Amino acid sequence: MNGEYVLEFRKISKDFPGVKALADVSMSFKPGEVHALVGENGAGKSTLMKILSGVYQPSAGEIFYKDEKLVLQNPHHAQTAGISIIFQEFSLINTLDVTENVFLNREPRTRLGLFDKKKAAAMTRELLDSIGIEIDISAKVRDLSVIEQQTVEIIKALSIDADIIIMDEPSAALSDKELTKLFGIINKLREDGKTVIYISHMLEEVFSIADRVTVLKDGRVMATENVCDLNKDQLVRLMVGREIGDIYPELSGNIGAVVMEAEGLSSGKLRGVSMDLREGEILGIAGIAGAGRSALVETILGMNPLTSGSLRFKGKPAVFRNIRQAIEAGFCYIHSDRKNKGIIAPESISVNTTITNLGEYTGRWLIKRNEETRVTKQQVELLGTKVANLNQKIEDLSGGNQQKVLISRALLKKPDIYVINEPTRGIDVGAKHEIYRIMRDLTAQGKSIIMVSSELPEVIGMSDRILVMNQGFSAGILDQHKKTYTEEEILSLAVGHEYQLPAGGCDDEEEV
Ligand SMILES: Nc1ncnc2c1ncn2[C@@H]1O[C@H](COP(=O)(O)OP(=O)(O)OP(=O)(O)O)[C@@H](O)[C@H]1O
Ligand SMILES: [Mg+2]
Repeated sequence: MNGEYVLEFRKISKDFPGVKALADVSMSFKPGEVHALVGENGAGKSTLMKILSGVYQPSAGEIFYKDEKLVLQNPHHAQTAGISIIFQEFSLINTLDVTENVFLNREPRTRLGLFDKKKAAAMTRELLDSIGIEIDISAKVRDLSVIEQQTVEIIKALSIDADIIIMDEPSAALSDKELTKLFGIINKLREDGKTVIYISHMLEEVFSIADRVTVLKDGRVMATENVCDLNKDQLVRLMVGREIGDIYPELSGNIGAVVMEAEGLSSGKLRGVSMDLREGEILGIAGIAGAGRSALVETILGMNPLTSGSLRFKGKPAVFRNIRQAIEAGFCYIHSDRKNKGIIAPESISVNTTITNLGEYTGRWLIKRNEETRVTKQQVELLGTKVANLNQKIEDLSGGNQQKVLISRALLKKPDIYVINEPTRGIDVGAKHEIYRIMRDLTAQGKSIIMVSSELPEVIGMSDRILVMNQGFSAGILDQHKKTYTEEEILSLAVGHEYQLPAGGCDDEEEV
């Protein structure tokens, strides 16, 4: 290899019908660097990485890899060349088990040419051990949690022993503890001279793990900088083209009466949780992965059968036997598993926006398409969703824009209580700001929100009160109108002992 770069993009462009996803993108990557790629939803990050992994062909431009021009025919070709990607929306096969997924299309063979499952299983176990995570490797992927599926994706990439490892929002489903593990793995890859391309909307992560960062905006490169030469405000300005200031709106001033009370809720791993929710309030649910955060809200919503405990809603006893009954009573649920439990992939943006409200757009016989279009257009404008047209399939939208469509769907139902699981997973800073504003507007109208979130700054910035879960129990309810809590305080409750966050990468140098 001559020169300091292992990989270069030269003037890469990509056109989709009606969308110029990338325009003249030139970038280069060093061996042994973690290179972050950031930008707003729809900026073109995933598209660029799909080109690098052979999923899409560029409309123009060239890739140079180890001093040679690289034309990737397909994903398999990219893998053989040593380029491995962990996709943003997982690409695992649900009906296969963990080992089968890790070695899909690259199965180790016995002397007779049969799939050597034993060997594959041993290799899978070894890789899992190397990152210190336990998963039942004979489990089918469909039975794994989002976090476990994520881990399988990472293992799969590691198993290829690639030189270029692309991680498209790998942290979106990871707890802090697991993130620390992931960073450990990434540091090791860097020491081994690998190039890690790291996409994330979590700018804190960029500052703690990346060496350099490239900002994409509307398919163009805005800048490539050493991470230590930038601060967060400068990075945000490059991404959104304006100052954002304080991203979290002020806490609610008008918290009203109790609308819902839960007493000793138990179900599955949930053990005797009591809580209440008031009008105009955002109740944040914090805790590490597996602490029962989703179990709590899904039990309230009737998705898990109650083994003991009771629920009162608007002053009356209420038992929801399924989510439909909860929705009829005035709840809505925005699921964290957007791909499997949220979007209807092959359908349009219009259909995905209006589906649960179809009654309002149905005439005697026909769906009133005009009305459906008008409402969808209004929602797209309200949330600033980036779309080519309303008939575009939702699966062709960038991840963050899919989330905005799901939020629109919920808003249209006009529920009294919004239950939102990871409201801004995969959403860029500018759009987060908009979603937070929408959440605060809702509470100003007296609506209540239960927000499950793994992002502690979001929990702290948005919650009037914070319920911290620990192993199925409520470890405490913190009132932020009395005091603003710190991440460490919440984590200490969540894990049951003192907890210190790892320090960022550049801080030390600044202090010298
Ligand atoms: N298969 C496709 N067909 C049509 N348009 C597409 C397709 N894939 C991506 N696009 C469009 O290309 C643009 C860039 O999308 P991309 O997924 O690369 O964004 P991103 O930067 O990864 O965003 P996010 O942060 O939300 O994941 C978007 O406008 C998107 O709608
Ligand atoms: Mg993306």
